[in-house]
Amino acid sequence: MKLPIATNRTVGAKILELFSAHKGEFLLVIATQIAVAVAAVVTPWIIGRSFDALAGGAEAAVIRTYVAVIAASVLVNVVANWFADFRSRVLGQKVFHELRVQLVEAVMHLPLSTVEAAGTGDLLGRTTSDINRVEFIIRQGVSRIMVLTFQVIVTVVAAFLVEWRVGFVVVLSFVPMYFVVRKYLRRTIAVYLAASALNAEVSGDITETVEQSATVDSLAMSEVRVSRTSVLLREYWDNERYSSLMRALLVVSLLAVLYAPMVISILWGAWLVGLGYVTVGAVISVTLYAQQLRVPLDELAWWFDELQFAAVALARIFGVAEVAPDRNVGDDVPASAAVSVEGVSFSYRDGHPVLRDVSLEVAPGERLAIVGPSGAGKSTLGRLIAAVNPPDAGSIRVGGVEVTSLPEAL
Ligand SMILES: Nc1ncnc2c1ncn2[C@@H]1O[C@H](COP(=O)(O)OP(=O)(O)OP(=O)(O)O)[C@@H](O)[C@H]1O
Ligand SMILES: [Mg+2]
Repeated sequence: MKLPIATNRTVGAKILELFSAHKGEFLLVIATQIAVAVAAVVTPWIIGRSFDALAGGAEAAVIRTYVAVIAASVLVNVVANWFADFRSRVLGQKVFHELRVQLVEAVMHLPLSTVEAAGTGDLLGRTTSDINRVEFIIRQGVSRIMVLTFQVIVTVVAAFLVEWRVGFVVVLSFVPMYFVVRKYLRRTIAVYLAASALNAEVSGDITETVEQSATVDSLAMSEVRVSRTSVLLREYWDNERYSSLMRALLVVSLLAVLYAPMVISILWGAWLVGLGYVTVGAVISVTLYAQQLRVPLDELAWWFDELQFAAVALARIFGVAEVAPDRNVGDDVPASAAVSVEGVSFSYRDGHPVLRDVSLEVAPGERLAIVGPSGAGKSTLGRLIAAVNPPDAGSIRVGGVEVTSLPEAL
C-alpha cells in the first residue's frame, strides 16, 4: 500500500492557496512585470515611427525626441525588470519555504503504521527527490512563466495595435510551428532516454563478460556473450542514427520557427505597402515584434515541460497530507507510568488475528518478561503499547490515559 497521491485539482487549489497567502506581493510582482512588458514594446514601435517620420522628411528635433523616448523605455525596462525579478524570487522563496514546512508537518503527523505499510522509500522519495524537483519551478518557474506570458500577450497586442493587418498574419504563423517543435521535442526525449539506457546496458554487459572471463571460458559461453554484446551494439547504433536524424530535423524546424514569422511579416507587409494599406514603418515595427516573440515562446515551451514533471511531484507531495489520522489526540496527561492492557485484540490483515483478548497490568518499576515462539505476537503487543498501531478492540492505557490519545511524539 502506497501513500496517497493528490488529484490535479487538489494540487491546483493548494498552489493557489500558497500564493494567495501573499496576495499583495503577488500583485506587485504582476504589476511590475506588466510594466516591463510594456516598456519592451515601445522601442520597436518608435523605430517604425522614426522610419516613417524620416521618409516623410521630418525635422531632426522629432527624431531626437524619438531617441529620447527609446532611451527612457530601455531604462524603465531595465529597472522594472530588475525589481520584478528580485521581488518574484523573494516571493518564490517564501512560498517554497511554506511548502516545505507544510510537508514536514504532514510527515510528523503521519501514522507510523501507514508509513511502515507504504515502505519508508515512498516517503523518502517524496521528501527528497520530489521536493527537489518542484523547488526550481516554485522558486523561479511560476514567476518566470508569468513574465513570459505577459511578454507574449503585450507584444501580440502591440503588434495588433500598430498594424493589425500584418500582426494578425505574424501571430498565425507562430501557431503551426509551435506544434511541430513540441512534437519533435517529445520524440527526441524518448530517443535520448533510450540511448542512455542502452549505453548503461552495453557497458554493463561488457563489464560482466570481462570481469567474469574465467567463468565465461569454463562454461564455453564466449559465443553467447559476444553475440549478446553485438545485438546491443547494433541497437545502440540504430538508436544513435535515428537520434542524429531527429536532431538535424529539429535544428531545421527550430530555424523555421525563429525566422519564418519575420520573413512572412516582411513579405506580407511589403505586399500591403505596395497596395498602400500600411506604412513601411508599421511593417518594421511588427517585424521587430515577430522577432521579439521568439524568445518568450521558446522559453515558455520549455517551462511547460518542466511544469508537467513538477505536477507529478506535487501530487505526491500533497498526497502525504491526505493520509487519514489513525487516532484522536487528546490533552490528558498520564498520571503515572503504570501500563494497563485490557481485552486487546489486533490483526494486521482481516481474518488473521495476531492478538486475541490480551490483558495485563504493569506497575511503575515492575518488570515483565513476555516469552513465546516466533510469530506469537510479542513484538506486536509491544507495538500496540507503544501506540504504533491502534488496537482493534480493548484499551491500552498509560497512567490512566488511552495511549492512542497521546501525541505521537511522546
Ligand atoms: N507489519 C506486519 N504486517 C502483517 N503481519 C505482520 C506484521 N508484523 C508481524 N506480522 C505477523 O503477526 C504475527 C506476530 O508477529 P510478531 O512479530 O508480533 O511475533 P513475535 O512474537 O515478535 O515473533 P519473534 O519472536 O520472531 O520476534 C506473525 O504472524 C507475523 O507474521
Ligand atoms: Mg518479535
